Amino acid sequence: MKDRYILAIESSCDETSVAVLKNETELLSNIIASQVESHKRFGGVVPEVASRHHVEVITTCIEDALTEAGVSATDLNAVAVTYGPGLVGALLVGMAAAKAFAWAHGLPLIPVNHMAGHLMAAREVKELQYPLLALLVSGGHTELVYVTEAGHYHIVGETRDDAVGEAYDKVGRVMGLTYPAGREIDELAHRGQDVYDFPRAMIKEDNLEFSFSGLKSAFINLHHNAEQKGEALVLEDLCASFQAAVLDILLTKTKKALKQYPVKQLIVAGGVAANQGLRQRLADEIINVDLLIPPLRLCGDNAGMIALAAAIEYEKGSFAEFDLNAKPSLAFTGLK
Ligand code: KG4
Ligand code: ZN
Repeated sequence: MKDRYILAIESSCDETSVAVLKNETELLSNIIASQVESHKRFGGVVPEVASRHHVEVITTCIEDALTEAGVSATDLNAVAVTYGPGLVGALLVGMAAAKAFAWAHGLPLIPVNHMAGHLMAAREVKELQYPLLALLVSGGHTELVYVTEAGHYHIVGETRDDAVGEAYDKVGRVMGLTYPAGREIDELAHRGQDVYDFPRAMIKEDNLEFSFSGLKSAFINLHHNAEQKGEALVLEDLCASFQAAVLDILLTKTKKALKQYPVKQLIVAGGVAANQGLRQRLADEIINVDLLIPPLRLCGDNAGMIALAAAIEYEKGSFAEFDLNAKPSLAFTGLK
C-alpha cells in the first residue's frame, strides 16, 4: 500500500507546532515553538501576545517540519488543524495557515479537537482497544472520557470549576513560582511531606465530577494567614500536600470511572500527565487495566498528537470545508 502523510498544525494556546505523520503512528517530525518565555512575566498566557507570536513563526515551523521529515508538499495526503478548544485568536492563525496550505496544494482539510489530540497521543504507545477510558488533565481541562470506538468521544465526568493544571499554576503563583508551575511543584513535592491538611472535594460523592477551586482557596488562605502572622511555611511540604490532595482526587475518580465503565485500557494524557507523582500513583494503583501514558514529548501541546488523532479522521473521511471556523469552547458530547 502507498504510504500516507499528514501535515498537522497546532496553535490553540502558547505553542506553535507542526508535525508530519507517516501512515498510522510514525511521527517523522514534531516542531514545537514555545512562547512560554514571553508569557512568564505576566504569570499566564496573554491571548494577544500568543496570536502575534503564532503569526511570526508559523510558516517557519511548517517549513522545518517538512524538511525534518524529508517530505515535500506533493507527498502529502491531507492537512490537519486544531480548530478548538483554545484561544480564538491563536486558533485562527493555525487555521489560516492550514487552509492556505491545503488550498494551495489541493489537499483535504481535517479538523481536530485539541483534547482528542491529547487523548490520541496514546496511539504512539500501543494500538488502542475500544471501548477505552481516558483521564485528560491539562491547563484548561480535567475530564474523564469514554471512547466507544475510534473517534467517538463521550465525556462521563469533568471539573465543575478549575482545571487541574490551572490549579497548579494558580497556587504556583501564590508561592512566587514562575508560570507554568506544574513541573516545579511536582519536583518540590518529591522533597516534601504531606503535612498540611487540604480538602479533597467531592471525593466521597458517587459521581465522576471534579472540583479544584476549594483546594485552591484553601491553599491561598493558608498561605495568606501564615504571611500575616509572620509564620514560615515549608515550600516543599506545601507542594507535597497540595499534590497529595490533587492525586487523591484524580485517582479516586478514575477508579470510580473504571468501575462504572469496564474497559481494557486507560489513557492518561494532557500536560499534567507529565506529573511524576501522578505517573507513580497510577502505576501503583491502577491494576487489571492496561495503563497508557504518552511519552513526555507528547504530553504538552504539540502537533504530533493532532496528527495522530487526524489519522483516524482521515480513515472516516471527516474533512472540513474551507469555511471551517475556530470553536474556542469546542467540547466532546456527554454520554447519555
Ligand atoms: O496540555 P497542556 O500543555 O496545555 C493545555 O492544553 O492546557 O497543559 C499545560 C498544563 C499547565 O497548567 C502546566 O502547569 C501543567 O500542564 N503541567 C504540569 C506538569 N507539567 C505541566 N502539572 C503538574 N505536573 C507536571 N509535571
Ligand atoms: Zn493542551
